[in-house]
Parts: sequence; C-alpha cells; structure tokens
Amino acid sequence: MLSPNQSHTPLAKALHWGFIVLYGYGLLKQLEDLSELESTGLLVFEVVFALIFLIIVVLRYGYMRRFETFLGTPVPLTQKRVARVVHVGMYLCLALLPLSGLLIAGLYRQGIKTGPMQDLAVGIHSFSASLSYVLIFIHIAAAIYSRIKGEGIWTSMVPVWKEQGH
Ligand code: HEM
Ligand code: HEM
Repeated sequence: MLSPNQSHTPLAKALHWGFIVLYGYGLLKQLEDLSELESTGLLVFEVVFALIFLIIVVLRYGYMRRFETFLGTPVPLTQKRVARVVHVGMYLCLALLPLSGLLIAGLYRQGIKTGPMQDLAVGIHSFSASLSYVLIFIHIAAAIYSRIKGEGIWTSMVPVWKEQGH
C-alpha cells in the first residue's frame, strides 16, 4: 500500500496527461493513404508533428526512468514486472510510430512512393499504432483494477476518483 501523500511529481503528471492529448491529436490527424503526402504542406506538417512527438516521448522516458514502477509500492513482483513491460512497451511503440512516419516521409520525398521499402515503413507504422491501442487498453484496465484494490497507485497519478487516505 502506497504511504499516504506519496504521489508522482507534478511534472510526471503533466507529462502523463498532457501526452495523452498529443497522442489523441495524432490519432485524429492520422493519414488515410500515402497519396495524401502529395501535399507538401501536409508532409511538412506531419514531419514537424512527428519530430515534436518523438522528442516528447524520449524526454518523458528520460525523466520518468528515475522513478521506480509504482513508486516502489510493495505489490507482487509479477504485477510490477508486467507493469514495467507494458510501460516500456508503450514507450517503444510511441517512439516507433513517429520514427516509422518519418521514414515514410523520407522515402516519399526521395520519390519512393510504392514498393517493398514503403510497404515495410507503412507496415511498421500500422503495427506500432495497433500495438499502442492494445497496450494502452491493458494499461487502463490494470490501473482501474489497482484502483478497485485500493493500492494507492491510481491516486499517485490520477487527479480524480482518489482513494481514501491517499
Ligand atoms: C484513463 C486512463 C489512464 C489511467 C487511469 C492511467 C493511470 C496511470 C498510472 C496510475 C500510472 C502510474 C504507474 C506507476 O506509478 O508506475 C501510469 C503510468 C503511465 N501511463 Fe497511464 N494511465 C492512463 C492512460 C494512459 C495513456 C492513454 C497512455 C499512453 C498514451 C499512458 C501511458 C503511461 C505510461 C507510459 C506510464 C509509465 C510512466 C513511467 O513510469 O515511465 N497512460 N498511468
Ligand atoms: C512524418 C510523419 C508521419 C507520416 C508521413 C505518416 C504517414 C501515415 C500514412 C501514409 C498512413 C496511412 C497508412 C496506410 O495506408 O494504412 C498513416 C496512418 C496512421 N498514422 Fe501516421 N504518419 C506520420 C506520423 C504519425 C504520428 C506521429 C502518429 C502518432 C499518433 C501517427 C499515427 C497514425 C495512425 C494511428 C495511423 C493509422 C494506422 C492504421 O490504423 O493502420 N502518424 N500515417
């Protein structure tokens, strides 16, 4: 059980909830088809967005690495290990998404608009998008389960539905 008042830092919380807005915007702005990149304006927008997205993911990971998963709450080791794998998995696919997007843009700029290279880049892009959906679903389900058990982890990050005594 987390000792009362043990909470993630304001910066950790701002990064967590602020990033969700950026991710949501990325999903909203997702391209339907490669041919949309014929518009140079859109291609430049996508590249700038992907660079900002990637930098924030890397800086966030760099900052958050100093904190132990669950802030050291004594929960079963398997639970902590699974959470760590899911958290790192989220970082990996949230980095792979803009990286593969930049590869798509780079190839397209080189005139490689079809073929195995572009198919591979789009394939990785699509895979990392799908993986992010699955991991985030597992993450939110686990967070709600932890909230129901009243371990205090929810309250360390989430500003609503706070656990009593935390
Ligand atoms: C309602 C939705 C969500 C809830 C209730 C929630 C809850 C939490 C909680 C309680 C933690 C802290 C875990 C710990 O102390 O180790 C956490 C960490 C994390 N969350 Fe969420 N989360 C939500 C949505 C999301 C979404 C949409 C993303 C990704 C886009 C995300 C990515 C992460 C990551 C990467 C961490 C690990 C931070 C770190 O230690 O490096 N979360 N979340
Ligand atoms: C230079 C940057 C980017 C380029 C050139 C790019 C390009 C594309 C293209 C061409 C598709 C359609 C793929 C298809 O035909 O199925 C696509 C889909 C998508 N993109 Fe991007 N993208 C970029 C950055 C991003 C970023 C930063 C996000 C972050 C959220 C993102 C999220 C998505 C999603 C969720 C899809 C739908 C994937 C699917 O369901 O298959 N993209 N993108």
